[in-house]
Amino acid sequence: MDSASSTHSLPPLDAATPEDVSGRFAELRARFDGEAAGASDESSWKTVRDAWAGRKSGVLVQITDTWLKPAKPDLKRAVGQALNELKGYIESALEARRLAIQGAADEAALLAEREDLSLPGVVRPLGTRHPLRQTFEEIEKIFLSLGYTVVAGPEMETPYYNFEALNIPEHHPARDNMDTFYMAAPPGSAPFAGNAQGEPLLLRTHTSPMQVRTMEKTEPPVRIIVPGKVYRRDNPDATHGFMFHQIEGLAVDTDITFCDFAGTVDYFVREFLGPKVKTRLRPSYFPFTEPSVEVDATCVFCGGKGCNVCKQSGWIELFGAGMVDPAVYGFVKYDAKRLSGFAFGLGVERLTQLKYNVNDLQLYYQNDVRFLRQFA
Ligand code: FA5
Repeated sequence: MDSASSTHSLPPLDAATPEDVSGRFAELRARFDGEAAGASDESSWKTVRDAWAGRKSGVLVQITDTWLKPAKPDLKRAVGQALNELKGYIESALEARRLAIQGAADEAALLAEREDLSLPGVVRPLGTRHPLRQTFEEIEKIFLSLGYTVVAGPEMETPYYNFEALNIPEHHPARDNMDTFYMAAPPGSAPFAGNAQGEPLLLRTHTSPMQVRTMEKTEPPVRIIVPGKVYRRDNPDATHGFMFHQIEGLAVDTDITFCDFAGTVDYFVREFLGPKVKTRLRPSYFPFTEPSVEVDATCVFCGGKGCNVCKQSGWIELFGAGMVDPAVYGFVKYDAKRLSGFAFGLGVERLTQLKYNVNDLQLYYQNDVRFLRQFA
């Protein structure tokens, strides 16, 4: 009978002596062993269990009904004893088999779930800091080491802070150099009035408004740098963006001289571009500094000998700066007779171009990883 069948019908006990009885039980046991060995999973194990130990018609129950009850008195004892032994044997063999099947299934599940910890992990590509951010951080570090603090200001400004309080009144020609984005009020609402003349709010064209905002709120001495975004209606090209970055610097105290200014500028340029670079100050004009200068450095590409980048002059223009114009102190109620100071405005894109010889400013904004990876 195959093990898939759940019932075995037991023939009558064909035995005349106790030895015959043991022989018949031995045959049954061998048959059970064969079937139990073939049970390799839970369902075939259940089939074997039901066929042999099932309560209604399992072989053990049938032995009681078919062999033990009708047995002749002289064989009854032998049949009862053999039945008890077979019952114990089958029960423990079934339990052992169940445990073995369960163990094998657990092991298979574990194997299927096993993680190989020696496999290489998922490599997630790490980004790098953007070159402009690197320049910001380098410049901030240099000025922090000189005792400056870093402050931030609004990108949406009033004409008062962007121009007037910096000594650039309406119709002053200096406004022409900073072609400005003005903010339109939503249709139907009153125009944004950024100052007494009803001029609208604007996107700041430089970080200089923070000079005024800081001095308004702070008693001297003041030593700040202001990194941030600025906006101008300039057409994008290799050296211009309509949005770019500046770092403003301002130092005001009772005893700051032009020498402190020149020394600070020289120290910064050498820290940023290298110890061999020399600086020179060229007269210039800004309404909010007097005197005003352009800071030039010896060309980083030719060491000052003259090349295409510096147009054979040996010098490159770096940034605008100067001593704070006393008129500005008037707007912030600082005592111009007692106080003096200097200010500068660095173009972050241009300084980064110079330092890393980047020939097109637009590359900073295009997110081309082949470009950005070079700054890793
Ligand atoms: C100013 O913005 C002054 N506020 C700087 C200043 C501050 C002078 C304090 C004195 C005292 P200027 O317009 O020159 O100055 O701009 C400063 C720098 O911004 C330039 O040297 C240049 O590096 C950069 N720059 C100007 N326009 C653009 C542009 N469209 N794209 C990228 N960089 C620009």
